[in-house]
This record gives sequence, structure tokens and C-alpha cells, in this order.
Amino acid sequence: MDFPERFSNLPEYAFPRLRALLDAHQPGGEVLHMSIGEPKHPFPWWVSEVIAGHAGGFGNYPPNEGTPELLSAIAGWIARRYGAALDPERQVIALNGTREGLFNACLALCPETKGGMRPKVLIPNPFYQVYTVAAQAVGAEPVYLPATGATGFLPDIAGLPSETLDATAVVYLCSPSNPQGAVASHHYWSEVMALAEKHDFRVFADECYSEIYRGAPPPGALEAVAETGCDPERLVVFHSLSKRSNLPGLRSGFAAGGPETIARMKQLRNYSGAPLPLPLQRVAERAWADEAHVEANRALYGEKFEMADEIFAGVPGYRGPEAGFFLWLPVADGEAATLKLWQETGVRVLPGAYLGRGAGAANPGHGYIRVALVAPADETRRGLTAIRRTLYGTG
Ligand SMILES: Cc1ncc(COP(=O)(O)O)c(C=O)c1O
Repeated sequence: MDFPERFSNLPEYAFPRLRALLDAHQPGGEVLHMSIGEPKHPFPWWVSEVIAGHAGGFGNYPPNEGTPELLSAIAGWIARRYGAALDPERQVIALNGTREGLFNACLALCPETKGGMRPKVLIPNPFYQVYTVAAQAVGAEPVYLPATGATGFLPDIAGLPSETLDATAVVYLCSPSNPQGAVASHHYWSEVMALAEKHDFRVFADECYSEIYRGAPPPGALEAVAETGCDPERLVVFHSLSKRSNLPGLRSGFAAGGPETIARMKQLRNYSGAPLPLPLQRVAERAWADEAHVEANRALYGEKFEMADEIFAGVPGYRGPEAGFFLWLPVADGEAATLKLWQETGVRVLPGAYLGRGAGAANPGHGYIRVALVAPADETRRGLTAIRRTLYGTG
């Protein structure tokens, strides 16, 4: 029996790999999960009420691209957050979380060739793993761009040779970035969108951590489209309720972009997409219209950012995240540090290399661990204190 070659070289996914690293060893203390980025703060109290109030909707096939009410609520949020006036019917599509959208966007929008050649898809390294399988699914060549301290933890798109940019069909960017917590500035987005115009490529901006920040709200790629005057069809932005509203299980997000772009995504979804159940679309509609729960959530993360800064004060190379909910902590060897932590303290983190590509030290995640700040504050303090003591001494 033949199997396709397309995905045969995929490495083991990060979490089975973590289990293989740790599970043969006893934890050295009470187990504390800081490896998975699953939000743990409470979701808004009204969620169950809205579902119960609209339970009859489970008896209907839901509209594939989102109800008009949901699309309007999303467009309203975009206008308030980014000052961009989008047509909800033509420029927004509801998704079952951003993950499927980030995958399907490549299917719907990446051309078969660029300049007669196999197109390149640029991907920050380390990265959210769906980007690469999306590129591989359409037969494009994934090109991994280091996003390290030397490049401000974002890929240096402007520094790439013209030939690479000319051969590029799609650039995936993540801001605030997972895992590093770096934020793309106005200038960064404007430069990327100007290059997209010049070299004729698309940008998929994964902004699903946009609402968890300290200081000023992270700029959005949509703002750069308005500023640079580039073709709006070049950009798709992706947003989610998973982190913003602590609803990872709702599976609700959206993509927004140019009308032709969104029409293409809707067309593919008509054939192969799974729409969000109607009562859940009602929850999403309410969530995008409400900022109070988002502010409360951000304040809880703010306390944990402060806690991390205090606990890791004086650690060489420590940098508090600008946004998102991960610490990206420098260590000599991420796997060795993860195993040591597990065996000595029971704290479970993720080796940075599992989120990147490249062998050994050539993997930009090699010298890092990723620590999720999702647990309640007291547990987070216990975990961070154990990490500090075990990996860096008390100093
Ligand atoms: C960078 C990034 N993008 C996208 C997603 C997908 O989130 P969701 O599908 O829940 O919207 C995640 C989830 O962890 C993520 O970390």
C-alpha cells in the first residue's frame, strides 16, 4: 500500500516528543504543567447562558462563513482595535479557531508556481507548526528564517536577497510571537507589506496573541496596509478567541483580508470546511463585542509577567515577554534542562528545539525552554521559583 511522500519527513510533533523525553523518568516533585499553551483563566461567565439560550441552533446546519451578526461583531472589534473599516460580509470569514484557517489559507491562496518555479513559503524559526504542513500540502518549499535575539526574535524579511523574495508566494508571520513573545512594530509591518507589494507575495499574519500584552497594544498588520497603501489582497490576518477570551475549546476565530481573498477562502470552505455550530457562533459574537473580560484577563497575565521579571532578575539573557503568555528562557541545552527540571522538581516545560527546525545548535530553539504562564498565579510562582533555583541557582 502506498502512502504520500508529502508528509513523510515530518518530525514527531512536539508533545509526543516531550512525553518520550520525560515519561520514562519519575517527576522529582508535585507535577506542574508549564509546557502546553492552554489558557487556564476563567472564560466569561455568560458563555453557558448564551449556549443554553441558543441551544435550538444545534438543530440547524450553521452558515459556513459565519452568521451576519458574528461577522458584524468581528468587524466592529477590528474597527475599534485597529481603526480599519472592513466590510463584514466580504472581508471577514469565521473559522473554527485560527489553526484550521492558517492551514486552509495556503490551500486557497498559494499559487502553484511563482515565476514558473515551485513557490517558497517563508516561515519564522521557531514557529507554530501548522505553517509548515500548510506549505507542504500545496507543494511549496518551506524556507525557515531564524527569529533569534540577533533579529529581535522576528524573522529578518527585509534582509533577504531579492531572488528569495521574488520566489516567495506566502510569508507566515506571528506577532505577538509564539514562542518568543516578540511584537512586530508598525515599522516592521509596513516594511513587510511594502516588500509584499514590491515582490508580489502574500502575508499571513497570525495575531492570535494580540490581546495579551504589557504596555501598549501590539500594532496590527491591517494598520500597515492602510499606511503603505499596498493592495489589501496581499494580507490575511488571523485572530482567535482561544487566548483573548480563554475559550480554546470553543474553536472560534476569524480571518480578515481583501474581498477576493476572503471569497477564495469561503469558496474552499463551502466544499471542505466544518462550520462552527450556531450556538457557539452566538457566544463568539458576544465575546468580540465585550472588552471587560479581556481587560480582566490581561491584568491576570500582567501580574504573572511582573512575577517572572522579579523571579528571573539577574539571570543573564533573561528577557520578559512583550506579549503572549510564554517565557522563552535561555539555557545551555533545552532538552537537558527540561529533563533536569522534570527529574528534580516535577515541573514540565518544552524544549525550544521542538518548536524549531535544524539539527543541534543550528536549531534556533536549541538553547531555550518555553514556559507557559497559564496556570493560576500561586502555581505559576511555584513553577517559576523551581525553574530559577534548578537551572540558574538563586544568585
Ligand atoms: C501561534 C499560534 N497560532 C495559532 C494557534 C491556534 O489557535 P486556535 O486554533 O485555538 O485559534 C496557536 C495555538 O496555540 C498559536 O500558538
